[in-house]
Amino acid sequence: MKDLILGVETSCDETAAAVVAEDLEVVANVVSSQMEIHERYGGVVPEIASRVHVSEVIPVVAKAMNEAGVSGRDLTAVAVTRGPGLIGSLLVGVSAAKGLALDWKKPVIGVNHLEGHLASASLGADKVSYPCLVLLVSGGHSLLARMSSPGVYAVLGSTRDDSAGEAYDKVARLLGLGYPGGPAVDRLAVTGADVLKFPRPMIRDGLDFSFSGLKSAVANYLRREPDTVRKDVAASFAAAVMDVLLAKLETAMGQGDFRSVAVVGGVAASPVLRQRLAEMSRRRDVLVCLPPLKFATDNAAMIAAAAWPRYRERGGDELDFGADPGLKLPEAARPSTQGSRPGLT
Ligand code: KG4
Ligand code: ZN
Repeated sequence: MKDLILGVETSCDETAAAVVAEDLEVVANVVSSQMEIHERYGGVVPEIASRVHVSEVIPVVAKAMNEAGVSGRDLTAVAVTRGPGLIGSLLVGVSAAKGLALDWKKPVIGVNHLEGHLASASLGADKVSYPCLVLLVSGGHSLLARMSSPGVYAVLGSTRDDSAGEAYDKVARLLGLGYPGGPAVDRLAVTGADVLKFPRPMIRDGLDFSFSGLKSAVANYLRREPDTVRKDVAASFAAAVMDVLLAKLETAMGQGDFRSVAVVGGVAASPVLRQRLAEMSRRRDVLVCLPPLKFATDNAAMIAAAAWPRYRERGGDELDFGADPGLKLPEAARPSTQGSRPGLT
């Protein structure tokens, strides 16, 4: 049997567990989404999220272990998201993972959720070649990183305010499209046209991102023109986001010796973005690695994948590491400089 890490992810509204081998074969992957529960409130309600994680986490882990056909003693380690995310939700996963690891006498590894997304680049069919330029676009973050090998990266640019996913969710609310917003805005966008020419914030201004001005431009426009054609608003908004993402990606590509490009995070599930990336990949003759949809949005396979280089380098963490809702991605990191050490947060 291969060496296996169990990953556990509970940072937001998905309870997830996965079993991943050292060669990153995903042996089992289970995601229990709370989307339907939060939908009626128009967004994630943190207190409800943590309560649902409490009842879901052990059954979800059991299901993943069952699918993989393994028991606790077959594992090499247990990995868990320790931040960033909702504190109550994170605490449930961290406590469950530590309890299981103690019981199974296995090391436990606290993983940064964003490092998980970066690692998801390697879970697709395309083999990532290094150095790899990674664009991470999720609900909480937009960032560009240079990954020189698995788990070794430097941040090149990041979110100044709203992330791309957050802007999608807010615009969805403005358009009355409910939660989750990204897929709904995208579905409407493909039926409309980019006729409104919203601003492209900071498009030629470095590698940091800012989407709150764009969101405000959409809000102001909708106040002025309440009877506008909604599909054109969605299309114009999506086009502005994609123009910015693609422009930054291409600027960064011009600044490094990259051998591949990867796009990860929830917004990487967007068919609009995937189409733009396919066009860019042909035009610039560069390999763009995209995780399959199930590994683009939150999942635990990416958490186990991120844990492997950490485990190889320094084994497990001390058991006293805590959940950290504001955990930052270090500007530059190697597996040996992360985890529960001072300076990480
Ligand atoms: O990575 P993720 O699952 O969770 C975070 O770590 O934040 O990303 C969720 C974000 C949400 O903002 C959601 O609206 C966005 O990803 N998203 C999409 C699509 N599917 C999910 N955005 C655009 N198009 C999509 N198809
Ligand atoms: Zn995420």
